[in-house]
Amino acid sequence: MVALLENPLRVGLQQDRIPDPQILVIFGASGDLTQRKLVPALYQMKLERKLPPELTIVGVARRDWDHEFFRQHMREGVQDYGGGILSEDIWQEFAKGLYYCPGDIDNQASYQKLKAFLSELDEERGTRGNRVFYLSVAPQFFGEAAQQLGAAGMLSDPRKHRLGIEKPFGRDLASAQVLNQVVRQVCSEEQIYRIDHYLGKETVQNLLVFRFANAIFEPLWNRQFVDHVQITVAETVGLEGRAGYYESAGALRDMVQNHLMQLFSLTAMEPPNSLDADSIRSEKVKVVQATHLADLENIDLSAVRGQYARGWMKGKPVPGYREEPGVNPNSTTATYVALKLYVDNWRWKGVPFYLRSGKRMPKKVTEIAIQFKEVPYMMFQSAAKQVSPNVLALRIQPNEGISMRFEVKTPGNSLRTRSVDMDFRYDTAFGQANTDAYSRLLIDCMLGDQTLFTRGDEVEASWRILTPLLQVWDAPAPPEVMPLYEAGTWEPLKAEELLNRDGRRWRRL
Ligand code: BG6
Repeated sequence: MVALLENPLRVGLQQDRIPDPQILVIFGASGDLTQRKLVPALYQMKLERKLPPELTIVGVARRDWDHEFFRQHMREGVQDYGGGILSEDIWQEFAKGLYYCPGDIDNQASYQKLKAFLSELDEERGTRGNRVFYLSVAPQFFGEAAQQLGAAGMLSDPRKHRLGIEKPFGRDLASAQVLNQVVRQVCSEEQIYRIDHYLGKETVQNLLVFRFANAIFEPLWNRQFVDHVQITVAETVGLEGRAGYYESAGALRDMVQNHLMQLFSLTAMEPPNSLDADSIRSEKVKVVQATHLADLENIDLSAVRGQYARGWMKGKPVPGYREEPGVNPNSTTATYVALKLYVDNWRWKGVPFYLRSGKRMPKKVTEIAIQFKEVPYMMFQSAAKQVSPNVLALRIQPNEGISMRFEVKTPGNSLRTRSVDMDFRYDTAFGQANTDAYSRLLIDCMLGDQTLFTRGDEVEASWRILTPLLQVWDAPAPPEVMPLYEAGTWEPLKAEELLNRDGRRWRRL
């Protein structure tokens, strides 16, 4: 442990290195992600001098834009969704490295044109043939784009060419396996960066530090002391105009298979042998492989879905999911999912992990709560009703921090107890904003550090857990099968029952 502290985690060190000169090619550059997240994150890194001066960004999409239009569109993105154009000079320098190359994802000639353009840019900007191809296109095009890049010889050099792929990676186990095969035909696993932006969040990385750089928590982190674990990712937003994608994804594919499973695996994994990418990723895979839905015979005892109905958010009426533009009025797409998982290994056998995620919840909050067992013998009989078990809550966002709940004696003559919280908050402790998740991931991808990216076997292992559910939930069904919850309220009743049956309750956040 001491060695870890003296030799700070690699997970936190890499950002001090500056990537080699290179070209970042973004496919799907006319989409929201590029304008709202990727380019604002890159500009922020430019301001912080974390990028090589030669860095060149090439947007690729079908629209008939030119370089100037692209630059202007990205500028608006930085202004509206990023931290703003804080320095005009630095923006001008950054914008000089922004280019646009129109092209069709399924057209071979587009790739040839792109290839020639990138070679020209190498000459002009000194980018030395180094490339990251970032696929931010609709998921059904990931395979096609990878194949075309491979066929055009653009992924042939493992030292110089990397492929970033946005989520969701596959729609189920079978399609994820096929996609893995397709990408591995054109490049090696070491070149593939499967993106899950939750891994770029500071507080998610802190899970590793918290668990493995402190001696006091790890001895308790097992079936002997932990009663159960709750992982919550609640959002206030609704569909946000993404019906085309979301109708076929739903909460299970959009949030659970990736973001929640990452939070789960980092919470449940064994300590890695070292902090290199594969040691960490191998431990994550191991724990996910040992995990299954609580009751495979009866899916209803393992999982609950729900869909938001019309309701109120911040005092304003909001439409139900089925009334959102582009959504089938009889849609059975889930906007809420709750799961109960078990891990069959020595550390966790018998400890339930409850995961939930929903849109249009009353609050945006992502949290991992470790609820400990009750004391073996309660001496304070008269106050027993007030005693609640110890809870360690890791707040991923917002109000990033960690709190520990325990019992204390209330002042006075009687021996009454009350629960109090010991609280750590990032903002008060460090007084600085957390690094944006995409900044972290983009820089790591450019540096060639795969630690915060999902490995192929990991993605398959998490799809395997969810497959029995997908088989039931994907089957055509009448709209009545879908439990509804009013927008602006917590889970549907059935999700309460999932825990109540076990004598437990969801945390009120
Ligand atoms: C995305 C999902 O991956 O994550 C969105 O597609 C969701 O539906 C978003 O809203 C949540 O991210 P964050 O960082 O706001 O928790």
